[in-house]
Amino acid sequence: MSTTSITVIVLAAGGGTRMKSKTMKVLHPIAGRSMIGHVLEAVSVLEPRRVVAVVGHQREQVGPHIQELVPDAVLAVQETQDGTGHAVRIAWDSLEESDRTGTVLVAYGDTPLLEGESLRAFAEDHVSAGRAVSILSGIVTDPFGYGRVLRDESGEVTGIVEEKDATDEQAAVCEINSGILAFDAGFLDAALPRLSNDNVKGEYYLTDTVALARQDGLDVGAFALDDVLQTEGANDRAQLASLAKEKNRRILTRWMQDGVTIIDPDTTWIDVDVRLEADVTILPGVQLLGATVVAEDAVIGPDSTLKDVEVGAGARVVRTHGELAVIGAGANVGPFSYLRPGTELGVEGKIGGFVETKNAKIGDRAKVPHLSYVGDAEIGEGTNVGAGTIFANYDGQQKHRTVIGRHARTASNNTFVAPVHVGDGAGTGAGSVIREDVPPGALAVSAGPQRNIEGWAQRKRPGTDQAQAADQARAADEAHES
Ligand code: UD1
Ligand code: MG
Repeated sequence: MSTTSITVIVLAAGGGTRMKSKTMKVLHPIAGRSMIGHVLEAVSVLEPRRVVAVVGHQREQVGPHIQELVPDAVLAVQETQDGTGHAVRIAWDSLEESDRTGTVLVAYGDTPLLEGESLRAFAEDHVSAGRAVSILSGIVTDPFGYGRVLRDESGEVTGIVEEKDATDEQAAVCEINSGILAFDAGFLDAALPRLSNDNVKGEYYLTDTVALARQDGLDVGAFALDDVLQTEGANDRAQLASLAKEKNRRILTRWMQDGVTIIDPDTTWIDVDVRLEADVTILPGVQLLGATVVAEDAVIGPDSTLKDVEVGAGARVVRTHGELAVIGAGANVGPFSYLRPGTELGVEGKIGGFVETKNAKIGDRAKVPHLSYVGDAEIGEGTNVGAGTIFANYDGQQKHRTVIGRHARTASNNTFVAPVHVGDGAGTGAGSVIREDVPPGALAVSAGPQRNIEGWAQRKRPGTDQAQAADQARAADEAHES
């Protein structure tokens, strides 16, 4: 099928009042993408020559979002929501003559489970059957609220009747209109002005085009999609949650089919743009969000959230929160690590327990194992940073960088007061506050020499347990010596 002659109209003018949200309904995200983003992604499989989105309510939010995703999309504004037929008419009037030929596909902006391949199969069926109108239908157990697909004795489609206009007999039909329709452009052009709003809702129903085509002696038909959830819309937060859960289940199933081990699919959430290699293992309680990428043999979790993080092969990430960070191959992160934007951990490096990092380039095999804050820093390969180290990057007004060279050994409880530079192979003493640059190979000691003031506890805190313990130890030492 030549897909170059398809124009797609996406309806998204409705109010979505049941969401009770200041965010436009179709902008609510599922699996890291807006609902309408999922629809536009599915539509892109058809390689449409033009996409028109009908916007109305909250169009100042939804319009720019659509144009960001599909820069050459046409926005058609529907001031009042007078029905799907009215909406398509407004879309039609906004199109150039050259886009009003071939096939026209109408979809809704709130069906996040829609798949491009389903649209492709539907459009191919429509074109090969040479119909004026095709309905993407579904067989459901509870058709309540949907338009019903009507057929004559020979099984030929005759029309669609809306729930509110249906007789009891019609209402009992379980084949429903998903809302997605395909048209021959010439027929649609002629049919739109003929729609009336003489019905219970007083709206212009796009669905009335089916009966009009029949009246004109043109072919109409329905293409049933087995997977009816693909065309289900989310109208309130409960439906949003259940579609999100289902979308996630589908994403996880695909990754498991592609060789990813997911120990607990019920507590694992993976956004649609995440990329995983085979033999990645995901432990319970993990969220992989945004454009996160995980290479083979890496093990993530339990209980970790990674957003826009790149994880190298064989890395281990335990109980970690990370954003816009890079974790090298074979590296170890966690438990309880907080990787903020700009963190880059080298191959086989380590960021350990209760360590927070930001704008920090930590070299290959370099380690920050315990209880530290590393901000605006560069740590060379093979360097070990002692427990409880603070990179004091902020002077109260400006941020400054600390650079530590290769194979350095900095001791516990250090403070690096930026800007400061520690040379290759240098070291520091425990408890040092490093304010001056340390040359390569030097040992920097800033805490003064230790002074023991004898008998201090007994003099200053006589009669306390502390003084008594000191006395007892002294007496025991003297007995031992004599
Ligand atoms: C519509 C169909 C029905 C189908 C159902 C599937 C018609 C007359 N009925 O009914 O057969 O089973 O969808 O969900 O087409 N919209 C606009 N402008 C409008 C009216 C609607 O942009 O003036 C948009 C809405 O934002 C929504 C979509 O079109 O995305 C469908 O509108 P809705 O009011 O939900 O139609 P239904 O009555 O559910
Ligand atoms: Mg509806």
